[in-house]
Amino acid sequence: MCGIVGYIGSRTAYPILIKGLQRLEYRGYDSAGIALLDNNNVNVYKCKGKVRDLEQLTNGNPIGGTIGIGHTRWATHGIPNDVNAHPHTSMNGKFVVVHNGIIENFAHLRNELISRGYSFKSETDTEVLACLIENIYTSTNVSAETAVRIALTKVVGAYGLVVICTTEPNKLIAARKGSPLVIGMGHGEYFIASDATPIVEYTDQMVYLNDGEIAILTNDNLNITNLNDERKDPNVTTVDINIDNIDKGDYEHYMLKEIHEQPISLSDTFRGRINPDLKQINLGGITEVLPRISNAKRIIIVACGTSYHAGLVGEYLFEEYARIPVEVEYASEFRYRNPIINAGDVIIAISQSGETADTLAAIRMAKEQGALILGICNVAGSSIPRETHAGIYTHAGPEIGVASTKAFTAQVMVLTMMAFLIGKKRNIISTEKYEEMISNMLKVPQSIEALMKNEAHIREIAHLYKDATNAIYLGRGYLYPVALEGALKLKEISYIHAEGYPAAEMKHGPIALIDQNMPVFVLATKDKYYEKIVNNIQEVKARRGQVIAIVSEGDETIRKMADHVIEVPNIDEALMPLIAVVPLQIISYYVAVMRGCNVDQPRNLAKSVTVE
Ligand code: F6R
Repeated sequence: MCGIVGYIGSRTAYPILIKGLQRLEYRGYDSAGIALLDNNNVNVYKCKGKVRDLEQLTNGNPIGGTIGIGHTRWATHGIPNDVNAHPHTSMNGKFVVVHNGIIENFAHLRNELISRGYSFKSETDTEVLACLIENIYTSTNVSAETAVRIALTKVVGAYGLVVICTTEPNKLIAARKGSPLVIGMGHGEYFIASDATPIVEYTDQMVYLNDGEIAILTNDNLNITNLNDERKDPNVTTVDINIDNIDKGDYEHYMLKEIHEQPISLSDTFRGRINPDLKQINLGGITEVLPRISNAKRIIIVACGTSYHAGLVGEYLFEEYARIPVEVEYASEFRYRNPIINAGDVIIAISQSGETADTLAAIRMAKEQGALILGICNVAGSSIPRETHAGIYTHAGPEIGVASTKAFTAQVMVLTMMAFLIGKKRNIISTEKYEEMISNMLKVPQSIEALMKNEAHIREIAHLYKDATNAIYLGRGYLYPVALEGALKLKEISYIHAEGYPAAEMKHGPIALIDQNMPVFVLATKDKYYEKIVNNIQEVKARRGQVIAIVSEGDETIRKMADHVIEVPNIDEALMPLIAVVPLQIISYYVAVMRGCNVDQPRNLAKSVTVE
């Protein structure tokens, strides 16, 4: 949520900042801005809209300077407009700030500053912070970094921020609590950003700031301290992100690219984790805690959005194959409802970004109560993996489209490997079954490739339903979470109201919605629920609903009753979520494109939800 970028060194900062903001735009895209420090002058440009609007604004204006900061915004305080856009300058122009997060006590701080003669141009909490720093700086005669430090002790809330002081112009001051910041280590230069993507083309040597740390960056020095001004040694890590993975390539949208990447991203998820003889799963990240997981009394999965849906698939997998009771919780509810957490419980946090504020808070709370905390995350070095006891990276590669696609299948694949591994360790599944499931798992990428050959047919179906105003998604068993995910994909990028239900629940209310205008997507592959879901299709047809069924290859029964069928390759039902979700992703993508929606940056959303 909100993207921050900064540069200090000897290159011209402007192109680095603009490119960095383009890479971060998925984090928020309602306004953008930069501040450039050029010969002790600060030029601030900011506007409502996208980074390309910012580029137009700077056209013909001075854009020199080798120090600068930039921001792409997802509004929290104040509507998206030019004034509320970041960077924010303090009233007397001494400080310029970009900020990601929420200052919860901003109203109180604002009133205090007003009583000291301050006035404000914007409605934002960030302008309050800039003025607070300035007020401390001018009234106490301390250094800029000390003023920032003192200001942050008065702040309640979350922040990732970068500050320029116009009277101490040779440094950037950055601080983090709750909102991520990564520093790229160049030679005679430093980069800073909300994630590694704007930095990777300059350096792979990075330092992830920890909560409560303040970094002072000059051309040739990085100094990190905590809020008590105690020095911290920077922990430099080598980040392995391929620059090609963060470009769209020949695709029109990141989402389509990421849908198509799934055969490869899934192969990456199990690369090195299946023994060459195909008889054993190795999950290095949890090896040490495997005995504790195998003896767990209960597994609690916490996540949000699409990751929550992956967690629901995990519930079916763990209960069936490992026979451990599982609860799946929305992190936002779990963290606040005083849940009962027992010794012997294992908490699994699932998060693509590794930064989701509610998921992070949920694991912190459970950790305090003594539970073993595991993470299933995609972004290496992000906050959740750094706070868990152990975990497994999904290795899906950077996911830039706001709608999650390849991260979902990678999360489900990790959960599948975990469930089989633990089931084997607990002697719930036989060696034969274990090996059979391993070889089935390895067939998933080619099955997805095969079904993608039907993309033109799926697109035609999308065309038929592009003007729908509502849609229902039905599934049972392993495919019920996929129904939820299909509905989420459609609503978030095409703004069509869509709901997913367990198919049998239809009779308990939703069936009242069905008429000839209602598209009903039914996940009806050949599994143990097949006969039952066929009955559900009949019930929809009896009320003249439009049925689009995802069926197993060669299914003639449903073909005769549904309006449209999309065939997917046959596979064990426990693995079907990985395959059946793909046509739903493709339909959502094309419906949204045909409706003229901004697929990669849907309205009101942001990729990384770092505020609760
Ligand atoms: C939907 C989507 C969101 C995220 C949710 C959790 O397509 O992307 O629902 O799944 O915000 O995000 P992570 O997985 O980063 O914790």
